[in-house]
Amino acid sequence: MSDNTFAKDIHKGLSAPLKHISSKYFYDDIGSGIFQEIMKMPEYYPTACEFEILSMQGSEIIQRLNFNAPFNIVEFGAGDGIKTRQLLKKLVETNVDFSYVPIDISKKAIEALEANMLEHLPDLKIRPMIGNYFSMIEELSHSGVPSLFLFLGGNIGNYEVHEVNSLLASFNQCMKTGDKLLTGFDLQKNPSTIRYAYDDPKGITKAFNINLLHRINRELGGNFKTSQFDFYSFYNPVNGEVRSYLVSLVKQKVHIQRTDKCYDFEQNELIRTELSKKYTLPEIENSASANGFTVMEHFLDCKHYFTDSLWVK
Ligand code: AVJ
Repeated sequence: MSDNTFAKDIHKGLSAPLKHISSKYFYDDIGSGIFQEIMKMPEYYPTACEFEILSMQGSEIIQRLNFNAPFNIVEFGAGDGIKTRQLLKKLVETNVDFSYVPIDISKKAIEALEANMLEHLPDLKIRPMIGNYFSMIEELSHSGVPSLFLFLGGNIGNYEVHEVNSLLASFNQCMKTGDKLLTGFDLQKNPSTIRYAYDDPKGITKAFNINLLHRINRELGGNFKTSQFDFYSFYNPVNGEVRSYLVSLVKQKVHIQRTDKCYDFEQNELIRTELSKKYTLPEIENSASANGFTVMEHFLDCKHYFTDSLWVK
């Protein structure tokens, strides 16, 4: 991603009547490090739940694919790959002929993932791709072998409803009949459990959000005084949405060199940063059928907090 896109998006977001910064900008090197800390917090349950699903039910998931080898396992936004490795391990151990194709926009993340995967699974055939999802799936749609697409970790929760539909529709467009999609959805549950996962007592999630401002200072020459911003997050159990915000504690002006502009903040003015949507199983089924998929099976953890749902085109 060029700095210019970042600068333009920030300018647009901070000039809007309701200020916003996309959650995709959380993940610079420092933000990715903070996210690793979040995944280790006792309050942040999704990682452990999905790890359980992929390690305990990996063989069942593979069986349901019903693919003739060779095939591809294509992963969008692979992250550190520890969870995916649980699934891949089962296939490597049984000598199945497949290639693992992780896609990420960060070259650094992809190189680290490749080294890590090969350290644990030296026999894995891995063909990493660096780029955005859409240009990469377009490229993959010309491949003749069947594919399982992975969109794990609950990343889909960051998309607004209309974005979810256009994302799933473009996945569908690039898939062949019989291709499968395994998507991680965080499920609705006791509202307090969700609230603590996104507003932890140690303030790690706050630091994750404040890093957006540090990142603007570092990369775009901003002069945010981060101590003059707070973090606010809340879960609405009626619609399943966790919405997170930065809050300007005082009336203030911030200058950003790269955009050559000043941005005015009122006291208590918000910057919207993240949506993390929690789903119900019927909502997941509606999203599947609205976008050309059939649900084959929901693979849930034992607490029923999270599902990896297997769909077929
Ligand atoms: C990486 C998008 C799955 O929404 O749960 C964690 C990011 N935000 N805590 C999520 C996140 C605040 C996370 N995803």
